[in-house]
Amino acid sequence: MAIFRYSMMVLIALLAAACLTPATALAEAKKSFEYGDITLDRTSKGGTTMPVIFRHWVHRAKHSCRLCHVDLEFAMHAGQTGITEDDNKAGRYCGTCHNGKEAFAVDQCSRCHPKDAQAADEMNLAAKKQFFAFAKNLPKSLYGNKINWNQAEDEGLLKTKDFIEGVSFPDKSPITNSREEARKSTAEGLPGIIFSHPKHATWTGCGMCHPEPFALEIGATKMTMKEITNGQYCGMCHGKVAFPLYNCAECHSKPVQQ
Ligand code: HEC
Ligand code: HEC
Ligand code: HEC
Ligand code: HEC
Ligand code: HEC
Ligand code: HEC
Repeated sequence: MAIFRYSMMVLIALLAAACLTPATALAEAKKSFEYGDITLDRTSKGGTTMPVIFRHWVHRAKHSCRLCHVDLEFAMHAGQTGITEDDNKAGRYCGTCHNGKEAFAVDQCSRCHPKDAQAADEMNLAAKKQFFAFAKNLPKSLYGNKINWNQAEDEGLLKTKDFIEGVSFPDKSPITNSREEARKSTAEGLPGIIFSHPKHATWTGCGMCHPEPFALEIGATKMTMKEITNGQYCGMCHGKVAFPLYNCAECHSKPVQQ
């Protein structure tokens, strides 16, 4: 097993050099405490106001991806939702939860909008400390937030909410798919992929992946590692919020047939 793992790592390292483009998600190394942070600076660019930092680790610890990206309609690309003060005050987007009940209310402007660069630095430092206090008791991984989010969820260390009364569409008969899909790799000798439906559905439901970008038929979606590294298919989440693409063996995990 150790030998298998070793030779797999060598193979993967060679392939990494051969087929991955630099200047992509793979090349941008982010620190564990800021992995998944989104700088919302659409409205502050060029102006006097400071950008708002949205931290995924804070939020995904308590809510599923699906809740925000499907029910609350947050875009899957930084800056594309077009959040305004009026939206938030009307209880949309950030204001859905930041209402003084689920989380601090939108009238506490400076908790999202730092008043100057110094206040922004102080907030980032406080968030960094909170991150390490939070991560200390969770299972570890090597990349991204360096938290094994799946294991934390499996062990019941995180309880993610997937429903908000009056906002989420009540789903009375959820369709399920509890299969682990094995996918043969297109490169000879490279370990194949094991994609787990149940593990993904916990975080992302079905609608974040079907009908786009994945076909509802095994093998129908043609994808290459280059497209994934450019943020398509699996790379829509992996490399941005879910564990990054450095972690080759986490996806290419199926033993190579002798
Ligand atoms: C509390 C709400 C919330 C939760 C929970 C959440 N997100 Fe997000 N996500 C956002 C917001 C807000 C943005 C930024 C949207 C914008 O800028 O318009 C975002 C952006 C993204 C982006 C785009 C990143 C980029 O760099 O372009 C990805 C990918 C993403 N989220 C994936 C996920 C995944 C995967 C999960 C679950 C592990 C998740 N999100 C959980 C609110 C959330
Ligand atoms: C699904 C519910 C939900 C949504 C949507 C949501 N938040 Fe939060 N947010 C929370 C909770 C829960 C906390 C932690 C409890 C608290 O601090 O009151 C939190 C904490 C925070 C914090 C303090 C921790 C930190 O990161 O420094 C900030 C800032 C923040 N949210 C910004 C935002 C912004 C900006 C948006 C919209 C882009 C947003 N949130 C959308 C639930 C949400
Ligand atoms: C929970 C976090 C949060 C709180 C609290 C908050 N905002 Fe915002 N606000 C945002 C986000 C996110 C954006 C969008 C930034 C972007 O996309 O560049 C935004 C955008 C804005 C904008 C620019 C867009 C527009 O509508 O003109 C203004 C002005 C603004 N907020 C004012 C305020 C004021 C005033 C308060 C306090 C009464 C406040 N905000 C409280 C998160 C927050
Ligand atoms: C993170 C992405 C993701 C999520 C979430 C997801 N799927 Fe899939 N699904 C896939 C991929 C990838 C395939 C394989 C597609 C291919 O090979 O072209 C697939 C294939 C399928 C297939 C085809 C199976 C077959 O035998 O042909 C069905 C049915 C399906 N998914 C249903 C679901 C349902 C129901 C849910 C929610 C419980 C769900 N999926 C959630 C990514 C996802
Ligand atoms: C998030 C999951 C994931 C991670 C992480 C990942 N891959 Fe892939 N990789 C895939 C999928 C899915 C395919 C497409 C499989 C198919 O349909 O042929 C693929 C295909 C490939 C291929 C086949 C040829 C091609 O270009 O499409 C190579 C080579 C490859 N990956 C190398 C790597 C290397 C090296 C790493 C680490 C640097 C890596 N992969 C990390 C999911 C992943
Ligand atoms: C909609 C977002 C999204 C997409 C698309 C997505 N993933 Fe994931 N994936 C996640 C999240 C969230 C986790 C939880 C772990 C984390 O956040 O690091 C995860 C975990 C995993 C795991 C570890 C769970 C396990 O089985 O032990 C593997 C492997 C994986 N993904 C492979 C893939 C592959 C291969 C694809 C493309 C076919 C893919 N993912 C597409 C969001 C996504």
